[in-house]
Amino acid sequence: MEVTNTIYEIAKNYETPFVLLDPKLLETNYKRLASVMDNLEIYYAVKANSHPEIIKTLFNQGSHFDIASRGEIELLLSLGIPGQLMSFGNTIKKEKDIAFAYENKIEMYSVDSEMELEKIANNAPGSKVYARLLMSSDDSDWPLSKKFGTDIDHVIQLLVHAKGLGLIPYGVSFHVGSQTYNKYKWKEAIVQAAEIFYQLKEYENIELEMINLGGGMPIQHTRPIPQIEEIGLMIKESIEEYFADVKRLRVIVEPGRSMVGDIGVLVTEVILRSRKQKDNWVYIDAGVFHGLLETIEDFRYEIIVEGKEEEETGIFSLAGPTCDSVDTIYDEVELPVSITMGDKLYFKNAAAYTVEYGTTFNGIKPPKAYIIQ
Ligand SMILES: Cc1ncc(COP(=O)(O)O)c(C=O)c1O
Repeated sequence: MEVTNTIYEIAKNYETPFVLLDPKLLETNYKRLASVMDNLEIYYAVKANSHPEIIKTLFNQGSHFDIASRGEIELLLSLGIPGQLMSFGNTIKKEKDIAFAYENKIEMYSVDSEMELEKIANNAPGSKVYARLLMSSDDSDWPLSKKFGTDIDHVIQLLVHAKGLGLIPYGVSFHVGSQTYNKYKWKEAIVQAAEIFYQLKEYENIELEMINLGGGMPIQHTRPIPQIEEIGLMIKESIEEYFADVKRLRVIVEPGRSMVGDIGVLVTEVILRSRKQKDNWVYIDAGVFHGLLETIEDFRYEIIVEGKEEEETGIFSLAGPTCDSVDTIYDEVELPVSITMGDKLYFKNAAAYTVEYGTTFNGIKPPKAYIIQ
């Protein structure tokens, strides 16, 4: 979202820190992704931003939803979204939550282990399961490699085991890593998924029906990114090439960041500027515990300081408001030389994984979210 004079005017109405969200941009993002391929099923990853207005807007556009926990299921049910439109995409689920999902008609569950399959067989008998493939994620800002997914042989074993447990071995999923810069990563994953489809059909008489491409599409920050249309074309061509023999195929995508990240801006205020022996420090009212968790591995947002856009810059350390040194946003960042108390900082394209990560650490409230009407 561009930071314009209109945004400055709207921002005057609220106490910082907060995120301003524009649902019109969300509709555009949804339509852009939906148009990259016929019959692409969009399951919005609710974890990126679960604001009810976002959920409602996407529901009205025709979206389905990838959910991670009972809390997200409850939220969606409370907004009138039926379980049939949800997929339980977390490979780490509590048994009670699986039972709750099943009671509420959720039909699809992701797995990457035998124990998870057994929990699903016991608590959601006869359900569709899809196994998550391990990806290298080496061209992304947020690799999801080690913790999730497993190798091709194990995915095959899991889907065979699923059948033995009375579940429906339904498909394969992967996630190339969040904010991925290389469109070929989707092709690489699709080729591996096709191999699994082939081996299961050829040797186990199991015909899978679904491929879940996960999320990972990037939004604009400080590095150039491939556009959603380019990634979409890569996906479409790869599916046409490697899945030509699969008669019935559902293609699912689970965007989080790329659906909502650029529909909003995080607005914060400078509370303090101080001089240490060597460095200049600026402290703001949002931080690692209050919306900017993704900066802990030096993830870079574009920052605009209201009224000082054209000013000469210097190097500062930027930190949050809590009594914890982990709450340092950037050790070194360029900010206007005259930056001082009361200045407003706008973190561009900061609507994904910001409000959701907000805590009440130090008794400080997390950033609120407001909708631009
Ligand atoms: C299972 C699953 N699907 C989708 C997403 C959304 O990914 P992204 O925000 O990179 O689009 C995530 C993110 O962690 C995920 O775990």
